[in-house]
Amino acid sequence: MKTMLITGFRGEIGSQMLRELVEKNPNSQIIALDLLEKNQSNCFQNVEFIQDSITNIELLQSIFEKYNIDEIYHFVALLSQSSKKNPELAQKINVDSTISIIDLAYEFGSKNNKFIKFFFPSSIAVYGPRKIALASETDIIKPISLYGLNKINIEQYGTKKYEQSILNGSGVDFRSLRFPGILSPFNIPTGGTTDYLPQMLHSAKKGLKYVCQVDKKTTLPFITIDNAINAITLLMSSQCIKSKLRSFNVQDFSISAYDFELILTEMFSEFQTEYKSNQDLQIIADSWPDSLNCELACSWGFSSNNEIKKIINNFFHLIDV
Ligand code: SER
Repeated sequence: MKTMLITGFRGEIGSQMLRELVEKNPNSQIIALDLLEKNQSNCFQNVEFIQDSITNIELLQSIFEKYNIDEIYHFVALLSQSSKKNPELAQKINVDSTISIIDLAYEFGSKNNKFIKFFFPSSIAVYGPRKIALASETDIIKPISLYGLNKINIEQYGTKKYEQSILNGSGVDFRSLRFPGILSPFNIPTGGTTDYLPQMLHSAKKGLKYVCQVDKKTTLPFITIDNAINAITLLMSSQCIKSKLRSFNVQDFSISAYDFELILTEMFSEFQTEYKSNQDLQIIADSWPDSLNCELACSWGFSSNNEIKKIINNFFHLIDV
């Protein structure tokens, strides 16, 4: 029986990850934290829900004291555009609170003479400053966004704590994925740069015209929410990751806004998209890779699903109108 802590369980990835953890670990103890209350879709019985802020360090400390945590899934975060609008809050949430929870994992892992597994969702935002194709984990990481800088900061901090833990024989086992945009039938994201693709999908299903805030040629990598959850599960269940690198690329497909629109119009001939590029988004999108090299992730079992039409067809049935 494991004890798991999940933060940000009301978010796009957190909500699906909580569902997965509950289904796959019926006998485990799960503690779920979010600023928002639990809702109907995540009202699970074997979960202890806590409604509070990740900045409440005393609360975090008390959770570690009360429960013998084995795994942490840390999803609380501000996305790229929200971070740009509110840099101080981004520093507090994306960096300071994340460092505190990694430190607690390290402290309690050491105290209990074990490795606490820690999952951190990093992002393609760590790449830059120029657009590249098939980015590998060791390619240049000079992000132009505060969000990307914050992500790389945590990747490096977590890796350092992991190396320290290896030397000590206990502590924190930090593992991370560099997520591209996420495509989900359950959520319409806001506050990110990659939001336009899922927003376009949901608009097409709802019969609404879509105003796209990036240029039609803008090409970025994406992953479906199912495969994102699958990747996290695979990464976290691997006994040991044979890599000094603690952050891995994952993607399903790479596509331009216009090619995605064309697929949608094949299915919904009435669907219309207008392109009105917003400089805030465009500058960031133009610094992120077109596509990712996922070879390293394949070594622990990840595989991409690039059948875009099939994915869209499946998702169309799941989108609520
Ligand atoms: N999807 C995120 C964003 O657009 C990138 O990790 O901010």
